[in-house]
Amino acid sequence: MTAHEHDSAAGAVAGQLDISALAATQNLAVALAADGQMLRGKVMYLQGDLGAGKTTLIRYLLRALGETATIKSPTYGLLETYQVPADGPKPLQVLHLDLYRLEDAEELEYLGLRDQFDADTLVLVEWPERGAGVLPTADMTIHIHVDAEHRWAVITPAPFRQAVEHRLDSLKNVIRKIHKEY
Ligand SMILES: Nc1ncnc2c1ncn2[C@@H]1O[C@H](COP(=O)(O)OP(=O)(O)O)[C@@H](O)[C@H]1O
Ligand SMILES: [Mg+2]
Repeated sequence: MTAHEHDSAAGAVAGQLDISALAATQNLAVALAADGQMLRGKVMYLQGDLGAGKTTLIRYLLRALGETATIKSPTYGLLETYQVPADGPKPLQVLHLDLYRLEDAEELEYLGLRDQFDADTLVLVEWPERGAGVLPTADMTIHIHVDAEHRWAVITPAPFRQAVEHRLDSLKNVIRKIHKEY
């Protein structure tokens, strides 16, 4: 898709979410976190070039899920693990993987992902293409595209995207209501 197509649609390109503003990225994270059930036992791939905003989105997501400690980028260690309240009866374990520096997908075996993954775990993977063949397949993917003027989040599959968009809409209503009250 070209920049021109983006411009002409002014952010309304079907299936793409305009997250150019940092606040929009944060809103997306809050919408993702709004339903902990949606994320439990799931694998989410985050795709996009260096600097696209994958780690930023994950940081906001962990915050929205209730993480209060420092959130480090796992670039060197490949994996950071969190336990967050996520508004459910049980804590949600979040495994944040960044495979940018992974030289061989086989190295992933040593992280023992299979032993850590269960129905109360969410796996977030940056640079999943580097773990192809070893990494579990994705339940959902957020691909961030950057052009001269915008950042766009392409969320798949469609039912997940629609659930997220629905939550973003309700979020807008909440924000509007707060503004009215003040
Ligand atoms: N709307 C936005 N969403 C996400 N990041 C943004 C946005 N606008 C500016 N940024 C900045 O862009 C950079 C994205 O870096 P990062 O999240 O580490 O990218 P990645 O993990 O994809 O390599 C950060 O410095 C962030 O503050
Ligand atoms: Mg990153």
